[in-house]
Amino acid sequence: MPQAPCDPALREWLRALPKAELHLHIEGTLEPELMFELAGRNKVPLPYASVDAVRAAYRFTDLQSFLDLYYAGASVLVTEQDFHDLAMAYLRRARDDGLVHVEIMFDPQTHTHRGIAIGTVFAGLASALREARDTLGISGRLLLSFLRHLSEEDAFATLDAALPLREAYADLWVGIGLDSSEKGNPPEKFARVYARCAELGFRLVAHAGEEGPAAYVREALETLKVARIDHGVRSSDDPALLQTLIQRRIPLTVCPLSNLKLGVVRDLSEHNLARLLRAGAMVTINADDPAYFGGYALDNYVASAQALDLSRDELVTLAANSLQASFLPAADKTRWLDQLAVAASRG
Ligand code: ADE
Ligand code: ZN
Repeated sequence: MPQAPCDPALREWLRALPKAELHLHIEGTLEPELMFELAGRNKVPLPYASVDAVRAAYRFTDLQSFLDLYYAGASVLVTEQDFHDLAMAYLRRARDDGLVHVEIMFDPQTHTHRGIAIGTVFAGLASALREARDTLGISGRLLLSFLRHLSEEDAFATLDAALPLREAYADLWVGIGLDSSEKGNPPEKFARVYARCAELGFRLVAHAGEEGPAAYVREALETLKVARIDHGVRSSDDPALLQTLIQRRIPLTVCPLSNLKLGVVRDLSEHNLARLLRAGAMVTINADDPAYFGGYALDNYVASAQALDLSRDELVTLAANSLQASFLPAADKTRWLDQLAVAASRG
């Protein structure tokens, strides 16, 4: 169904609400223009003749059809400066969308398997996050994410390679995530490495219930003991699980435009975000991989508001949930929630 024309007043009101983004893959913010620039800089061949040809290739049928292009695109990221430039471009967009805090996932294995040192990835992302904190007034954290199509042994090796860097990035690297091909790669496959990460004091999240079944959401909660579920939209297939999520206030980092582009839903008007929210689930709105799915955080808020007839109160709840569900210290959450109340009452 074509999208309704955007109401500029609604967009501006939404922009002014302080919000956090909790589900964002930095590799998924690689716009075709920057992909070409970095390919030229690093002499990496691309199978596309132009920026338009890259965009034309973004017609996905499911998660795997997207992941194949996403991993291929990431091959242009080579130097610390590349990771810095990628993250800075996203952080500027984030600031323009009214995000005040972002929790960024990154996939070290996508890079280390191509011979890029994990320290190069950390250094580039961290320098951008620190620059954004100082110049854009936006705070950030890093969630190191394991690729679930690879083995748990590979995840342990990645953790071992990253741990010597922990102290240097203690202000940023707070958590662990799990992403990539969901079906056939259940959370249980990573039970031991998640137990180790819990012992080490990391905050834990995992993708579950995007394409995979509600049972994976339950496993992520009970076996991996995650604090948040990335996506989780399939949770509504299991009413008892949904009640548990509601009672325990487990945040779901929902990504509406991603779900649309990957065929998780046929039309945004069929998305269960509003039903989950109205049932009392702690839902948040996020962009996932905005360069590939045609929308950043604010686009996701606006598109959801229009397709699902979300009220202004519901939109404020979604913004508040994003701040509450973040890994920010309590005092920062309170300060942003107070500012959200002020912004919500304007316009
Ligand atoms: N990696 C990047 N985006 C992802 C998504 N939507 N699901 C699983 N893995 C991902
Ligand atoms: Zn994701």
